[in-house]
Amino acid sequence: MEVKVFDDYHSLSRYAANLFLQQVRQKPESVLGLATGGTPEGFYRQLVQMSNEESISYKAIRTFNLDEYYPINHNHPQSYWTFMKNHLFSHVSINENNIFIPNGETSDVERECERYEQLLKEKGGIDLQILGIGENGHIGFNEPGASFASRTRVVELTPNTIQANSRFFTSAQDVPRHAITMGIASILESKKIIVLASGKKKAKVVSEAINGKVTEEVPASVLQHHPNVLFLVDQEAAVNL
Ligand code: F6R
Repeated sequence: MEVKVFDDYHSLSRYAANLFLQQVRQKPESVLGLATGGTPEGFYRQLVQMSNEESISYKAIRTFNLDEYYPINHNHPQSYWTFMKNHLFSHVSINENNIFIPNGETSDVERECERYEQLLKEKGGIDLQILGIGENGHIGFNEPGASFASRTRVVELTPNTIQANSRFFTSAQDVPRHAITMGIASILESKKIIVLASGKKKAKVVSEAINGKVTEEVPASVLQHHPNVLFLVDQEAAVNL
């Protein structure tokens, strides 16, 4: 596991965008794993700007998002579909048929999870996965206690996550109670993983994930077992390292 510490959020985001673009240039048909949330917003801003400056083609790129609230309408302002459209997809030349996000509108959620897991396999697995990290150590929506063997499935969000994500909704009441998430085993099959962490609220969990015991109580600690993980952390998130 490699860790890089940056002076600020801007330089962290820029570095991540550069690595991502390197992957797109090297393998234009890459399968890319994407995260949503507050942390990657700067990364997507930089990525869109650099991609447009360099006229990078996303035509052959395939993307898989980690998760989606359940239930939620695609067009809900806080769905991860809407997030991805606003932050990336509507700004680059990606083919809509190559975008995969769990369907938060499905009436058969078990089947949707199986379909998603199957699609991941069919497309050859993820070349580069971008991850954020929850204050409680979650990756995707794999909350503390999630099995390291877990696959794409529907999960219940913890009160901590509902509270943390309520900043994007009118109130905590409006945050969906469930989500569809790629499992920990699914995430670990990615060839490379880049974790973004910013701000002092993440300092405790960043040190637990990197230097703590590997335990299902801190899902991100499992990354210590992956052969190709890079943590990009700003000063505030790195204070306990
Ligand atoms: C989002 C996701 C989550 C977030 C995590 C951190 O797709 O999978 O694990 O990465 O909740 O969120 P922020 O960046 O908002 O602190």
